Order: sequence, then structure tokens, then C-alpha cells
Amino acid sequence: MVVETGHRFSEQETEEYYDAEDVIYRSVWDADGSVHWGVFDGDSAGDSSIRDQFLAAGIRLNELMVEYAGIDENSRVLDVGCGNGNAAIWLTRNSGAHVTGVDLSGVRVANAVESLKNVPELAGKLAFEKASATELPFDEGTFTHFWSQATIYHVPDKVKVLQEAYRVLETGGMMIFDDLTKPRTDISESGRKFVYDRLLFDTDFSFYSYIETLRETGFKVLQARDLSSHLAQSYTYLSRLASIAEGPEGYQDRFDYLADAYMKTVEAINNDELGWAQFLCIKQ
Ligand SMILES: C[S@@+](CC[C@H](N)C(=O)[O-])C[C@H]1O[C@@H](n2cnc3c(N)ncnc32)[C@H](O)[C@@H]1O
Repeated sequence: MVVETGHRFSEQETEEYYDAEDVIYRSVWDADGSVHWGVFDGDSAGDSSIRDQFLAAGIRLNELMVEYAGIDENSRVLDVGCGNGNAAIWLTRNSGAHVTGVDLSGVRVANAVESLKNVPELAGKLAFEKASATELPFDEGTFTHFWSQATIYHVPDKVKVLQEAYRVLETGGMMIFDDLTKPRTDISESGRKFVYDRLLFDTDFSFYSYIETLRETGFKVLQARDLSSHLAQSYTYLSRLASIAEGPEGYQDRFDYLADAYMKTVEAINNDELGWAQFLCIKQ
């Protein structure tokens, strides 16, 4: 059976979801609160645990983004959808950049602000505030870099996010981000249920139409990478992590559901119902 996807979830629903679901993510993905997929290299296996391999892949994504976008101590970076602030803190510690993080979830922004207590030496270079990617509270040309991980797919009006990114970047500024894509439009019932409805999203973008829209927004696209195989690998690891997760009483059913849903997500990726891409663009 083929079901047309068409659900568009509001920002309000997304905010409530991320305000409520922090425990689940910390139990399955990362106790420190990071929630993004990773880039695996051939050497990942070794003797390290499944969790260490998964977290190392997430850090590898960070490292590649810094390298591709040329972020250093002179950079002023905006992290959109900063979640609990993990990548922003990592970024400042590892590149010396000034980083401002914004997120729709007040709970996650509060967690990010709380985390600053653990890194007093970086405090002057980091700031977090609650804001939507569609209405950034910054002047034109404020940042040298726009950075976003695993966030834009949630936003119903993705074009508005790209326009806002363009506005808040200085001329010559770089945008580096990853996002989910929909390689094909005929989505199976399983794909709709375990991917699109579970993740509260839908998208009109394929890998190629995303590039077109970035160009129409005014960006020059310097690099476009299809990372779908790494997304499949991420969800394979996550399924195993969900199957061994331990959390507060009453969460076991959720972990069992996620272990299954994550493998269904791998099937959807292999069936071209879901993709993952990374783009590097410059504001001309
Ligand atoms: C999967 S999490 C990724 C968080 C973070 N980037 C990380 O790597 O840990 C998605 C985040 O996007 C945020 N988000 C969703 N819609 C947003 C919007 N319109 N504006 C800002 N943040 C948004 C959510 O609140 C959530 O924290």
C-alpha cells in the first residue's frame, strides 16, 4: 500500500515534543544530550563499544563541518537548532570561535545555558537563546557562519529558514548544515508511520531540488554531499543502542518501539524513501 505523505507539523508541536523528550534521547543517543547523526569511517569498528563508535561518528561530522566551512577563532557562528548546546560548546572549545545557539525548545536552551557552568573558561564566547529558525533575532550580516545539524527538517517553512540564514550572514559568509531529504515521493505505509510521522516532519526537498532552492535563495553551493549511507549506519547503531537502553521506570516499551522503528528507518533509507544531505554554501 502506498500512502501520500502530507502531514505538516507546526512549530508549536515540535517545541512541545522536544521540551518533553529529553530523557529518551539521553538514554538512547547520548547521555550528554547531543542528538545528531554521524559520519562513519572504515576504521570505526575496533574494540570500542557501540556507543563510543556512534558518538565518534557524531564528532566526525562536527570535525568535517569545521574543516569544510573554515571555522576558526575569528569566526562568529550561529548554531540553529542548538538543542542542549553540545555542538556549540564543542565548536568553541575546538576552534576558538564565538558561537550563538538558538533553539525552539525552552527546555533545551535552559539545559545549554546550565552547561555553561561546566565550561567557565569558554563562557564569554558562548550564548544561547530561545528563537525559531524562521525568525532569527539578529541583524543582517551578524555572523560569519551559519551552522545547523539535524534541525531544518522539522521546520514546515524551510525556505524561510534559508532566507533567514542568508540575511544574518555577512557577505562572503558560509552556511554549513545537514538536512533530511525525500529522494522519492511515493512513500510506503511503513515509511510514513516510522519515519515521517514519528519524526514529525515532511519535506518537498530531494537532494537535487535542495541545491536548486539554495541557489534561488542567493547562495552559491560550494559542496553537496549525499550522506544517506551514513544515516542508515547511524540508525543501525541507534537501533542497537535502543535495544540495550536503560531509563526511568515505564520507558522500556518506548525503547523497544524505537529499536524497531530505527530499523524500519534503515529500510526506508535503503528504499530511497529518506535521505540525508550536507551542504556548504557561500553568501555572495
Ligand atoms: C534532532 S535535534 C538536534 C539538536 C542539535 N542540533 C544536536 O545536534 O544535538 C533537533 C532540534 O531542532 C530544534 N528545532 C526544531 N524546529 C526548530 C525551529 N523552527 N527553530 C529552532 N530550533 C528548532 C528542536 O527543538 C531540537 O532541539
